[in-house]
Amino acid sequence: MRKPLAEIYNGFAQTYEQNRGLFDMKDLLERFYDDLEVEKGILLDLGCGAGEPFGRFFVDRNWRVTGVDFSDRMLEMAARYVPEMKTVCADMRDVDFAPGSFDAITAIYSLFHVPKADHPALFEKMRRWLNPTGKVLFTYATKEYTGSDEFDGYKEFMGEQLYYSHTTPEALYEDVRNAGFTISSSDYRDIGGETFLWVTADG
Ligand SMILES: C[S@@+](CC[C@H](N)C(=O)[O-])C[C@H]1O[C@@H](n2cnc3c(N)ncnc32)[C@H](O)[C@@H]1O
Repeated sequence: MRKPLAEIYNGFAQTYEQNRGLFDMKDLLERFYDDLEVEKGILLDLGCGAGEPFGRFFVDRNWRVTGVDFSDRMLEMAARYVPEMKTVCADMRDVDFAPGSFDAITAIYSLFHVPKADHPALFEKMRRWLNPTGKVLFTYATKEYTGSDEFDGYKEFMGEQLYYSHTTPEALYEDVRNAGFTISSSDYRDIGGETFLWVTADG
């Protein structure tokens, strides 16, 4: 039987965080932040991990941040690094928030661990949780990472077999638009030797 993903992330929380600094995404963060139309807003970070760099970046700019992650070890680290961040230890597919609760929603290197069949429902929830002027930013896996146009399976990462899932960029854009978003940018970025699609959308 496969080890559950939350257990795997519990196992390498410390190592993951030590290596996290190798992934420099300051320009992406700043560009997303600069496009937001509110000051001191509220961010939801899905799959927040240890809260660095996203939670930290927004907290430092006087935003309130809620992080969701199903790895309690990752959240223990987040409590040390970003104690101001409110955290919820849960599968991001199981949480719910009141409509319009957030000014921005991020899912950085996390959505690709959620089965693609569940993406449309998650995008719909994100759209509902976001206020009408809000924006989302998420990382999406594509064949540049998995080698296949669509993927539902396991790949080695830091010595463990991790579950990844994605559809094609075109099918992704359709899911995002069907949820009510307008896509504002979609760029392939190589960060730390790994290429993913970085998508921003307006609520
Ligand atoms: C690659 S790490 C990225 C962490 C953080 N966003 C960052 O950029 O450093 C993926 C994180 O997503 C979490 N995660 C994966 N699938 C999840 C799910 N379905 N619900 C909640 N958290 C999830 C993992 O526990 C892990 O902390």
